[in-house]
Amino acid sequence: MTARKIVFSGIQPTGDFHLGNYIGAVKRWVADQALHDNIFCIVDLHAITLYQDPNVLRAKIRQAAGVLLACGIDPQKSLLFVQSQVSAHPELTWLLNCVTPIGWLERMTQYKDKAAKQESVSTGLLDYPVLMASDILLYQTDYVPVGEDQKQHIELTRDIAQRFNNLYGETFALPEGIFPKVGARIMGLDDPTVKMSKSIATDQKHHAVGLLDSPDQVWSVLKRATTDSGKEIVFSDAPSKAGVNNLLTIYQALTDQTQIEIEKHFEGKLYGALKREVADVIIETLAPIQTRYNELMQDARALDAILQSSAEQAAARAAPTLRKAKEHMGFV
Ligand code: TYM
Repeated sequence: MTARKIVFSGIQPTGDFHLGNYIGAVKRWVADQALHDNIFCIVDLHAITLYQDPNVLRAKIRQAAGVLLACGIDPQKSLLFVQSQVSAHPELTWLLNCVTPIGWLERMTQYKDKAAKQESVSTGLLDYPVLMASDILLYQTDYVPVGEDQKQHIELTRDIAQRFNNLYGETFALPEGIFPKVGARIMGLDDPTVKMSKSIATDQKHHAVGLLDSPDQVWSVLKRATTDSGKEIVFSDAPSKAGVNNLLTIYQALTDQTQIEIEKHFEGKLYGALKREVADVIIETLAPIQTRYNELMQDARALDAILQSSAEQAAARAAPTLRKAKEHMGFV
């Protein structure tokens, strides 16, 4: 029997998790859970690279855990822990900082985008990808299932691992990014030229659908979704069809039908019908998640116990790699 692959992925407990997070990442984590050895992390140390109100952050970390469990992360099959509870993550980050050329970090597109919006840029924001590399490399990860926006960070993780291995000897496995075939980049519903994002959704009500949104909220966003002045309901790469393409992609990801089946289904229908049907599949997908979430949040102790036990197991699993990295660097 071949050994099970080690899967690591993370999500920031900022804003509210949205359909992009679900389709691009979490749905896949849950679906492949039985196949692999899974480690999922609520990356609160990444969250603080931009200012977070401490009380809000505290609540969001628990909410994140509740939503992920409600989506189907099963503590019997996967670890689900909070990054700040495993000190190996920031500790390895320091070691990796010392082998990472600053130019590699300055070139990161997410850093450039986020930095451009800040008056004062923290060192942590620049260092964000090194912390992410530590998350992944600590567990000798094989696969990192993420949305397309994380591609550059995973390539950098491989570069850092390779540089470390070249300088100090074989220490880290080289991870591979895994991207969904459908929905690796869900776009904003108000503006299909930008990626659906938690930060835009905080300011703009009709940008995203949150996983905890009520049916009325879902419909209020969907009915205003940007389409175009044509009437063809087809998958298309044309910039003018980006809105319709995004709606069809969401529909495809949530129904698992083929593009041909979906185009046939919508043939001759109007955009209003498309929006209504997409809203309905979203509402159907979210209903059981929300019911389960409300149950889980009744029992804060049980939730904390899952996080604590996972953090202890993650710490034990991270320790040998951290020790190896330190030994290879010459620490006594
Ligand atoms: P985060 O919190 O921004 O997003 C969590 C996951 O959701 C995916 N995603 C999307 N997928 C499709 N369409 C979208 N519009 C969309 N928006 C977000 C992201 O690609 C991601 O998979 N840096 C990471 C967190 C992280 C991490 C890690 C991930 C920290 N350490 C180690 C993997 C491995 C982030 O900010 O994700």
